[in-house]
Amino acid sequence: MNRLDAPTVIRTKRDGNRLSDDAIDWVIDAYTHGHVANEQMSALLMAVFLRGMDYGEIARWTVAMIASGDQFDFSDLRRDGRALRTVDKHSTGGVGDKITLPLVSVIAACGGAVPQASGRGLGHTGGTLDKLEAIAGFTASLTNAQVRQQLSEVGAVIFAAGRLAPADAKLYALRDITATVESLPLIASSVMSKKIAEGAGALVLDVKVGSGALMRSEARSRDLAETMVALGAQHGLPTCAVLTDMNRPLGAAVGNALEVAEALEVLDGGGPADVVELTVSLAREMLELAGIDGVEPEQTLRDGTAMDRFRALVAAQGGDLSVPLPVGKYSETVTATRGGTMGDIDAMAVGLAVWRLGAGRSRPGEAVQAGAGLRIHRRPGSPVAAGDSLFTLYTDTPERFPGAIAELDAGFAVADTPPADRPLIIDRIT
Ligand code: URA
Repeated sequence: MNRLDAPTVIRTKRDGNRLSDDAIDWVIDAYTHGHVANEQMSALLMAVFLRGMDYGEIARWTVAMIASGDQFDFSDLRRDGRALRTVDKHSTGGVGDKITLPLVSVIAACGGAVPQASGRGLGHTGGTLDKLEAIAGFTASLTNAQVRQQLSEVGAVIFAAGRLAPADAKLYALRDITATVESLPLIASSVMSKKIAEGAGALVLDVKVGSGALMRSEARSRDLAETMVALGAQHGLPTCAVLTDMNRPLGAAVGNALEVAEALEVLDGGGPADVVELTVSLAREMLELAGIDGVEPEQTLRDGTAMDRFRALVAAQGGDLSVPLPVGKYSETVTATRGGTMGDIDAMAVGLAVWRLGAGRSRPGEAVQAGAGLRIHRRPGSPVAAGDSLFTLYTDTPERFPGAIAELDAGFAVADTPPADRPLIIDRIT
């Protein structure tokens, strides 16, 4: 009989004690194989959420999650006889964060290769896979062989982690519905287990700070960034983190299909300035870390080469961009009751509104609405006249409008003076 059992492990953490390496290895393995029940793991996650873990526990939890599945190795990947440099980025989750879509395409157009294991929406934050699945026919379930082939032929692949850190996939889904998402040890181990197992040669982390981020305070975000950079170094994965503002949503579109449409605008050389700025800044970090020089990421958005890579990625994964993106069947527009200047728009309020419209989940495995979401017509600092349209909300289930509008109402105001400027890029941690 095993000398470890779930109630003992839960009690240890509940009472504020350290989990031993053995306890961590056992509980992650037993949960992955269905020998620890969801209700037991939920209790342990809540204990971790409330009590935390020290760096040693986080590092071991990460190793145990990596050991739950396969690990890729792309070090022998070649194109035209030359070694391909692989590099990835991961965001800790934001509102309106569609950066992955243009970014992987830019890196591929610059000659790099991005093997991106991505996730679905978590809490009020959107997920790249949910966004891409708004494209007709798109699939993120690829075999290991398909991932390799697409990476060498297209230069970018975005896939469900599948056999990479399967413990994370189970924990991720459980955290999403047990209010245990915003925990530093659980975020750091979740991100880094996938990224280390994924086998990219270098990693750039976009660690969000502010109301719409999983870690709201800059100090906690910094702590998270430093922990993840240390985990990368421990596993020989060159990692740097960029702290970026998530007090306001990114861009003017939030929701799965709406965000794909905005990403296409950016790939077409247009799109909102903040989405372009973050795409280009993260691309520079990735290229530098991967040792790719002599290329200008912005140029690939202007000359259409990044768009070509995105189209190739979508086509390789069964997607059809000629089919119009879905739009929620019902819409409602929020208008200004007074004139002035649009003040700050709170990212959390927008994230919750979009989640309530049906873009996220409240039960495990629930289907999301591809067309649910919100368009922002007046960004912070824009002049507003009484009666102007401020936001348009979309959903297939109109009974969701009142709840969504109540969330949104709490998150913006038309003011007499413009809001203070906020730098999008706050700091860089290596
Ligand atoms: N991204 C992840 O992969 N995991 C988290 O916990 C948060 C963001």
